[in-house]
Amino acid sequence: MALRVAVTGKGGVGKTTVAAVLARLFGREGHKVLAIDIDPSPTLASALGVPKDVRASTTPVSKMLDLIEERTGVRPGSSYGSLFKLNPKVDDLTDKFGIATEDGVTLLVLGTIETGASGCFCPENALIKRLVNHLVLKRDEILILDMEAGVEHLGRGTAEGVDVLLTVVEPGTRSIETARSIKRLAQDIGIDKIVAVLNKSRGEADENFAREHLGELDIEMIGSVPFNDCVITADLEDVSPMDSEDCGSIVDSLVPVKKRLLD
Ligand SMILES: Nc1ncnc2c1ncn2[C@@H]1O[C@H](COP(=O)(O)OP(=O)(O)O)[C@@H](O)[C@H]1O
Ligand SMILES: [Mg+2]
Repeated sequence: MALRVAVTGKGGVGKTTVAAVLARLFGREGHKVLAIDIDPSPTLASALGVPKDVRASTTPVSKMLDLIEERTGVRPGSSYGSLFKLNPKVDDLTDKFGIATEDGVTLLVLGTIETGASGCFCPENALIKRLVNHLVLKRDEILILDMEAGVEHLGRGTAEGVDVLLTVVEPGTRSIETARSIKRLAQDIGIDKIVAVLNKSRGEADENFAREHLGELDIEMIGSVPFNDCVITADLEDVSPMDSEDCGSIVDSLVPVKKRLLD
């Protein structure tokens, strides 16, 4: 079964951590996984365990200005509209720019683009939309999008066409409020499947808090990931939580989430 998941939520809740561990769990299970980093400050590579030197020599797709111009008819930063083509070719993008990582996960870093005043990455958005809708139609392929924090990408429609929005929340009102906005905007672009994972849970009280508030929003909580210093230590040591011996509880807690997403 093909599956397209966008991991979304407030800044700092653990989107990248969850996206990376899930990607590798899917990969371990034999799925062909494409993980796309859509955050303007990309960190998915390190969370997946891509070594520093490889990261340093990675050219984000967004830097391929000429390529984007060629594919979409618009150069990033220029005004869009008249030249805009709706069908950028992406067939060979992953072959060209994908990085092979652990557990058979291929990573595509969209990377940083200077927004300037325009605030619109329209040509890039067209590419992402195309990737989401086009690339993962084959059986057993899984696309995981590590989204930018907040809800702006939903307004821009870059998550259009995903099967599931996986909203990460942490114990706290603010991330629940973001989940509320995500739910509303997702419905506007026709995504009706939204589930949530609680991250950084300190125990039952946090789980009850999240379940109750998500329940009010009619968002099912399909998993709970414990707070564990190992995630911070892994980041300090620049290894993936997946490769940290101390992070077993993190990985284990996401196994049922992986299963639920496949159902
Ligand atoms: N389960 C967890 N326990 C402890 N710290 C965590 C956990 N998940 C994430 N973190 C820490 O929280 C910070 C944000 O995580 P990250 O995955 O980068 O979030 P996001 O992608 O949503 O910004 C990082 O410093 C990370 O080490
Ligand atoms: Mg992130």
